[in-house]
Amino acid sequence: MAGRLAAVIPLTGYTDRLSAVPGERIAFKVSSTLAGPYRAGLARVVHADPNPAGPGVRIEDLSHRFSIERPSRVQPLHLGSYAHIDAAATLRLAGPLTVSALVWPTLAAGREQCVISRWDETAREGWALSIGSRGVIGRIGVGGGEALTFATGRAIALRTWYRVWLVIDPAAEAARVGYAALGGGAREESSAPLPAAAHADAVAPLIVGARLAPGARELFNGKIEDPQLLALASHAPEALVLDPLLPVPGLVAGWDFSQHIDRLDIVDIGPHRLGGRLVNLPTRAVTGARWTGREMCWRHAPREYAAIHFHDDDIHDAGWATDFEFTVPEDLPSGAYLMRLQAEGHVDELPFYVRPPLGRPRADVLFVASTYTYQAYANHARGNTDDAFRARIAAWGATPHNPDDHPDYGRSTYNRHRDGSGICYSSRLRPVLTFRPRYLTFLDERGSGLRHYSADTHLLDWLEAHAIACDVVTDEDVDAEGARLLAPYRTVLTGSHPEYHTERSLDAYADYLRDGGRLVYLGGNGFYWRIATSDAVPGVIEVRRAEGGIRAWEARVGEYYHALDGAYGGLWRRNGRPPQQIVGVGFSAQGLFEGSSYRRQPGADDPRAAWILAGVDDAIIGDFGLSGGGAAGFELDRADPALGTPAGAIVVASSEGHGPSFVVVPEELLSHLATVSGERPARLLRADITYAELPGGGAVFSVGSITFCGSLSHNHYDNNVSRILKNVLDRFRQPRQRTALLG
Ligand SMILES: [Fe+2]
Repeated sequence: MAGRLAAVIPLTGYTDRLSAVPGERIAFKVSSTLAGPYRAGLARVVHADPNPAGPGVRIEDLSHRFSIERPSRVQPLHLGSYAHIDAAATLRLAGPLTVSALVWPTLAAGREQCVISRWDETAREGWALSIGSRGVIGRIGVGGGEALTFATGRAIALRTWYRVWLVIDPAAEAARVGYAALGGGAREESSAPLPAAAHADAVAPLIVGARLAPGARELFNGKIEDPQLLALASHAPEALVLDPLLPVPGLVAGWDFSQHIDRLDIVDIGPHRLGGRLVNLPTRAVTGARWTGREMCWRHAPREYAAIHFHDDDIHDAGWATDFEFTVPEDLPSGAYLMRLQAEGHVDELPFYVRPPLGRPRADVLFVASTYTYQAYANHARGNTDDAFRARIAAWGATPHNPDDHPDYGRSTYNRHRDGSGICYSSRLRPVLTFRPRYLTFLDERGSGLRHYSADTHLLDWLEAHAIACDVVTDEDVDAEGARLLAPYRTVLTGSHPEYHTERSLDAYADYLRDGGRLVYLGGNGFYWRIATSDAVPGVIEVRRAEGGIRAWEARVGEYYHALDGAYGGLWRRNGRPPQQIVGVGFSAQGLFEGSSYRRQPGADDPRAAWILAGVDDAIIGDFGLSGGGAAGFELDRADPALGTPAGAIVVASSEGHGPSFVVVPEELLSHLATVSGERPARLLRADITYAELPGGGAVFSVGSITFCGSLSHNHYDNNVSRILKNVLDRFRQPRQRTALLG
C-alpha cells in the first residue's frame, strides 16, 4: 500500500478535451492529496525547453484572465479491465449452478485472478471462479464468516486454452472446480463439501475478469471467452459449448464476445439478455479458442475472435469528476495554453490548445499539434531515469514526474502490459506525465533531450521570435473536420513528429495538397502508423504494431486488424500509403538521440528551388541545436520515387555523418546487404530536405528529421536552419496565384 501511495502525484489532473474554440468550455479534472485548496491559473506557452543553453522557458502568466481556487480532493485511479454486468444484480440463483468459461491465462501472479464473480463483500455472499498458484479456485460465501475456498492443486499453464468451471450442487451437498485443456490433455477436478450455511446467491452484479472487494482487486490477465451460467449442476462441464445458434439446456446467461467487437458492451445470448459494459478497455479483436488461422480479420470470422484479452493494468477513462471549467474567451488568440495548478509547493501544468473562432482564421499559417503522437507516447516509461538524469531534471527545474516512477497512471503504446502483451490503446482521459512543458525525455549530452509536446515549442518559439502569427489546431481537429479546416491557410506546419494518423487525418493533408495547399513537414518518421479512433470509445487511439516497422512490440499473428474500426493496422506504408506520397519523404533510418548535419546538394541550385537556400552559402547546414546537437538526427526520412515521392521533387540537402547507432529501418531491408530500393544500406542512413511542387498548384517542403526544429533558436535565431524555414514561410505565405505563376 505504501508503494502505491508513493506513486501518486500529490497534485495532478487532465482535461476532457485538448482543444477548444472561443466560447467552448474545457473541463478540468484534478486530484489533490494536499490539505488546503489549490489555485489554478491560465498561462500561454511559448517555449517549454528548460535548457539554460537555449532561450529558456517562456510561459506567459495570464492568471489575470482566469484564476480560481478549489478545495483539494483525492480522486482515485484504478487500473485493470473487466466486464461489469449490472443487470445481473437482481437475478435470483438459489439452486444448482454451473459457471464456466474458456481462458487463456498470460501472467503467473502471486494473487488470485478472477475469471468471473458474483460477490457481495459486505454480506460475504456469492461466488467466484478464479485461477492462481493453486490452480483453478472456487470461492463460495457462507455469510458473515470466512468464505469457503477450494482449488484443483497446481497452477495451469500460461498461453494455453482451458475450459474452467465451478459447479455448486446443493442436492449433492458439494461444490466442484475443474479445468480441461482444449483439444484433450490435462484435466483435473476437485470438490468440497458444501456447508449448510453456504450463501452462494448474492444481490450483486456479475463481473467477468475480476472480483472487486475492498483490499482485493483480483483482476484477470489473459483471454476469456464464452463465460456462461447454467441453472443446473453440470456433470460434464468440459463438454459445454456456447453457440448463438444452438439452445443450451439450463442456460441463464452466456456472453458472446464475438458480437459488438468494435464497442464497449458485451452481449448475453441467454433468456434474460444480461448485457454488460467493459471497464478500462480490455483488448477485443483478439484470436479466440476457435481461431483456425484461415482468417486474419475478425470481421470475416467473428466467432474465431470471441475472446477478450483483459489486463490488470488497462486504463481508459479515469472518470474523475470536474473540479472547474474554463470557457475560452472570444478575444483569446489561438495558441498553446495551459492551466497551472499550484498548492503547498506542488505544481502541475495541464496543456490545451485554443483554436481560432470557427470559420474565422486569424492568421495565414496553421500549426497542427501532433496530439495523436503525444497520446501514443502518453506515459511512456523508458527505464532511463538514472541518477545523472534525475540530477539534470532537478538542476534545470524540469518537470519532476516521470512514468518510470508512476505506473499508476497507466502506460503508453510503447510499453507492454505486465503480461508481456503490447499496449495497443492509449487514453488521454487520465493524467499524462509526458504531456507537460519542461518534460525531458532523454539525458541529451549535446542538447535538451526534448520530444513531442515540449520539442514542438521550439517551433512555436521561433514563430513568436519572427512575429509570425499562427493559428493552432490538433490532430483530432484535423480528423474531425478534414481538409476544410486546413484550406483557409496559405501554409500548414507540422511539428517534429507527426507519426500517427487516422485515415481521415491523412486524407485531410492529401486533399489540402491536391487543392493547392502548401505543407511544411518539420519532422522525421511522420505519417507512419495507422491508428483507429471511435465515437463509441472516446478519448482513445488504437495501434496494432503489425508486420513491420521500428516497433516497441509485435502484434500477435491474427490480431492485425483494429477493434475500433475494423481496418488493417500497422504502417501506412503497408496500407498502400507510404509517407512519401504525401510529404515526399518517409522513414529510412533511426539511431540514438544524436543530431548531425545536412550537406547542400546540387538540387539547391535548381532554379525552382534556389530560393530555399537564398542567403545560405554554407555547404554544411544545421551542425548545432538543442535536440541532440544537430538538425539532422534521431529519426530520418528520405525521398524515394518508388515509394511515391512526387515527380520533379528536389532534394536540396541531405544529412550525413550519423553515428554508429544508426540503422536502416526494417521495412527497407531484404537482408543484411540488400535493400528494397536496391541501394546499399549505408546509403539509406540519411534525411533529405525535399521540395516538391504539385500538379494542383500546391507544394510540400519536408526536412525529414525529428531534431530539425531544435536548431531554430541557435545564435539568437540567426542561423542557416532558421534562414531556410524563414525562406520557405516567406514563399508559402504569398497568395496562391503567385506560386502558380512561378511554378
Ligand atoms: Fe515515434
